[in-house]
Amino acid sequence: MMKMVSFRNVYRCAVVLVALNVLGGCGGSGTRAADRASKTPAKNNDPGADARRMIEASRTRLAPVYAPLAEQLAEDLDLAGKTGVGIDVGSGPGTLVVELCERTKLHWINADINPHFFPHFFRMAEERGHAGRVSAVRADAQALPFRDDYADVVVSRGSFWLWGDKVKAFGQVLRVLKPGGVAYIGRGFSENLPLDVAKKVRGGQGGGPKYDVAKTAGELRSIMKTLGVTDYRIIRPRLNNEAGINYGVWVRFRKH
Ligand SMILES: C[S@@+](CC[C@H](N)C(=O)[O-])C[C@H]1O[C@@H](n2cnc3c(N)ncnc32)[C@H](O)[C@@H]1O
Repeated sequence: MMKMVSFRNVYRCAVVLVALNVLGGCGGSGTRAADRASKTPAKNNDPGADARRMIEASRTRLAPVYAPLAEQLAEDLDLAGKTGVGIDVGSGPGTLVVELCERTKLHWINADINPHFFPHFFRMAEERGHAGRVSAVRADAQALPFRDDYADVVVSRGSFWLWGDKVKAFGQVLRVLKPGGVAYIGRGFSENLPLDVAKKVRGGQGGGPKYDVAKTAGELRSIMKTLGVTDYRIIRPRLNNEAGINYGVWVRFRKH
């Protein structure tokens, strides 16, 4: 059963989260349970602290990343005139969702396993004038709480590497997409992010992420194969750029 949080409920949500923390952290234990289920080792036992750290990063060193990515997504996925529902799986602070609201007419859902992000997300959406166009759902990518053929678009940045059973999670994305719907999932930056900006962001991250991009591209290809998806493209933005900056890797696929 899907539990959607509307803007009107956000303050109630914040109060509930505080109460849950006081009671020993339902949010935290829930997340730990999901971590166990997903075989993803929990970094620590404090999802509230995780959320605060990521929110801080989204406001500082990662801040320049979201608007260009939203612009690229709107253009590449032809979202400008589209209506319906978009989901950002593992949206965390939800900055990408807010940027997508600026560029599309879709209703956007922040579907994240950690609900401690949601009060910040709703506040930001309200400040940017998009309060009525967003929702938040506590969701594990491996068991998305949406019906089949629900969403027009699914996006995700910087989250899939945490989805324990990735075949299962990508299978869930495929399930909730409408036929003809499109997904764009990956980590890193978009092609249109200027090199000097990317360099600064990577510098701020201590020299860059420690994963093998070619191997990850292979992993994404293998997931597509396992799921029988043939209409897909692996995207490695600015591969071999002169500054050697890692722009990450993405997969774009369509449900038929
Ligand atoms: C590095 S953060 C990226 C957040 C956001 N997409 C961004 O780019 O700012 C990873 C996010 O994935 C979420 N996450 C981790 N495992 C998840 C899962 N199994 N299902 C849904 N979200 C998950 C985390 O709670 C966190 O918000």
